[in-house]
Amino acid sequence: MTDGTSDDPVERVLADFREENARGVASRADFERLKGRFLGREKGLVPGLFLRVKDLAREERAAFGSRANAAKIQIEEAIARLAEDLARREARARDLAAAVDVTLPGRRTRLGGLHPVTIVRRRIEEIFLRMGYSIADGPEVENDLYNFEALNFPPDHPARDTQDTLFVDRKAASPLLLRTHTSPVQIREMKKRGAPLRIIAPGRVYRKDDADATHSPLFHQVEALVVDRGISMADLKGTVEHFLTELFGKGTRARFIPTFFPFVEPGADVHMTCIFCRSVSEAGDLAVPGTPRGCGKCKGSGWIEIMGAGEVHPSVLKGVGIDPEEFSGFAFGLGLDRVALLLYEFPDLRLLFEGDERFLSQFARER
Ligand code: FA5
Repeated sequence: MTDGTSDDPVERVLADFREENARGVASRADFERLKGRFLGREKGLVPGLFLRVKDLAREERAAFGSRANAAKIQIEEAIARLAEDLARREARARDLAAAVDVTLPGRRTRLGGLHPVTIVRRRIEEIFLRMGYSIADGPEVENDLYNFEALNFPPDHPARDTQDTLFVDRKAASPLLLRTHTSPVQIREMKKRGAPLRIIAPGRVYRKDDADATHSPLFHQVEALVVDRGISMADLKGTVEHFLTELFGKGTRARFIPTFFPFVEPGADVHMTCIFCRSVSEAGDLAVPGTPRGCGKCKGSGWIEIMGAGEVHPSVLKGVGIDPEEFSGFAFGLGLDRVALLLYEFPDLRLLFEGDERFLSQFARER
């Protein structure tokens, strides 16, 4: 680095510095290295000059000292200028990095969408909120008392079998299980709030079912419960038809086929007019004259099974401390996944649980 032409140490350091200074610094690391080499307190070339003073003859010391000092000032000033220049360049680089290049094509932000089951749940919630219902929630890990016993299931009912129900702790005082339907929320809400009552309870439920095109071991239900004075099957039918019309469109009718659920009396399987062929007229179970009845979706019947329903069983009301002489009620429950299947016409319920973006992204614009 030294120019080798001068024996004078001050001149050698200056020449060395001029050479490096001319080359400039490309980075902060470069700058720190250069600054350390000349001004570093331990091994810096400039402090090194002053260490030499003590080895010089007494008469040379003053002159050498003042030349070394002048060199020190010169180098310090040049290094300060390098520092300023470097800081300016760094600021410019930061500005450039932060700047938006308006000539570049935009980067598209992909918005997420709601899951179809969530869309269906929200639509159903809105319908019932408009009718003055409130939304209730309950635990997914339930006990036998709420899931079965308080709902009038006899001790030997097949639903209580491990073939059908996923148990968490069979040995607990009231065995713990994953709730098999949303009906236990009926019990919880009636106990908590008494009568009159008007709620829906959407949520996840679990059954030991094998997955196929219409079944999943984890699925979703929504429960509706009304308890008040003088509630009849007519109120149930009117509410169900209003709800189905709001959800599936004008002209959707319901028919009740008697069936058994231990917690309702009478109980019914509710069928609605097929929303695909609409071959049953608004007047009821009559084919529209001149049109073929039924389609593949309703298996030629013109009707689709949609929910379980009934009048709340008097023993259930009694069990939660509501007088069945004074109050009566109705309840119904349906599967949200099956509703999604009908509304969006996809062939297999398992699609809802596979997380396949190609399927789910089709709902991104739905609300
Ligand atoms: C019940 O669960 C009753 N708690 C419904 C009820 C409520 C009746 C209030 C009376 C009064 P069910 O077992 O039929 O009923 O189930 C109701 C709905 O859940 C069915 O109509 C169906 O849509 C849905 N479902 C049942 N099993 C599955 C499954 N494995 N996968 C997807 N959906 C299912």
